[in-house]
Amino acid sequence: MERTPSDFRSDTVTKPTAKMLEAMASARVGDDVLGDDPTVRKLETRMASLFGKQAALFMPSGTMANQCAAAAHIVPGEEVIVDEDSHIFQFEGGGLSRISGAHVRTLPTENGQYSFGQLSRAIRPVNEHMPRTGLICVEESHLFSGGTIVPIDYLEEVYGMAQHHGIPVHMDGARLFNAQAETGVDFEKYGQTCDSVFIALSKGLSCPVGSILMGDGSFIERARHVRKWMGGGMRQAGYLAACGLVALEETAPLLSEDNSRCRRLGGVTLALDGVRLAQATIDTNILFLEVTHSGLDAPMVEAALADEGVLALALGDRLLRFVTHRHITDHCVDRAAAALQKVLSN
Ligand SMILES: Cc1ncc(COP(=O)(O)O)c(C=O)c1O
Repeated sequence: MERTPSDFRSDTVTKPTAKMLEAMASARVGDDVLGDDPTVRKLETRMASLFGKQAALFMPSGTMANQCAAAAHIVPGEEVIVDEDSHIFQFEGGGLSRISGAHVRTLPTENGQYSFGQLSRAIRPVNEHMPRTGLICVEESHLFSGGTIVPIDYLEEVYGMAQHHGIPVHMDGARLFNAQAETGVDFEKYGQTCDSVFIALSKGLSCPVGSILMGDGSFIERARHVRKWMGGGMRQAGYLAACGLVALEETAPLLSEDNSRCRRLGGVTLALDGVRLAQATIDTNILFLEVTHSGLDAPMVEAALADEGVLALALGDRLLRFVTHRHITDHCVDRAAAALQKVLSN
């Protein structure tokens, strides 16, 4: 059997490319907390201009980017409207309340989209008995519904409503590059649908560490302060930022291939008994399958696939997640399809 597993657990398992390692070795660095790391500055400037924002801030992680954004947008006690299935609400350790002191208001979404009626009703009137609505969050692509693309005209409409009420919008764009690879919409246009947006460098873009938060100058200054007291100021961070600069040229253009491999894997699984697609469409690089097999649950399928050299992630009893990325080749997709067929036919 092939020794190296095909690792579909997450796009966070991606390793830096040879060009990234070279860029790290030759990066010009300084002390970023003192503000003089030229490579960090270069990446921040490039990203801010890509999204048409005034400023950007290099972050150790996406979680810190989301949490710094919330803390920079609101004051404690204000209400943050979030999708009940969003990463910022579900998977960040309750940071919104712990770090920002937010009063969190969850709403259901369909494929990452709030209903306009519900969203509009959730925005608080000015009333001393109620918390003030301080922030609305959106996620592009939407992880939990299977990497679904939230359409740009929907994002524009949400932003229009938020602006009408004077409420900022933060976009978790951890995988926005995967979405953009499909939509072809200018990054600047995405930037025009929110006050702040972060993108992850350490997922499909294949950098070892890092995320970038973009917004206007005063917002980024507040986020920089939060990053500092959270302990996220890094010194010679230019070694990491150098990978981000390479990613924009080298790995960003490959994301559409990751998305199409995911669709191919999803297509293959349609013909299998014992699993079914647990999402409406396969827009980007994430695939959720529901294990419907009468004798197997998701952790059992996960374990049996691992024995075949295919790593997926069981989430709960029935859900199994596959994520495609730079290390997942056509051969890996064939291998996963064959392994699933074998495991499910037992
Ligand atoms: C949609 C989304 N947002 C935010 C994050 C947080 O990123 P990090 O793992 O770098 O903290 C993730 C991580 O998987 C994510 O999927």
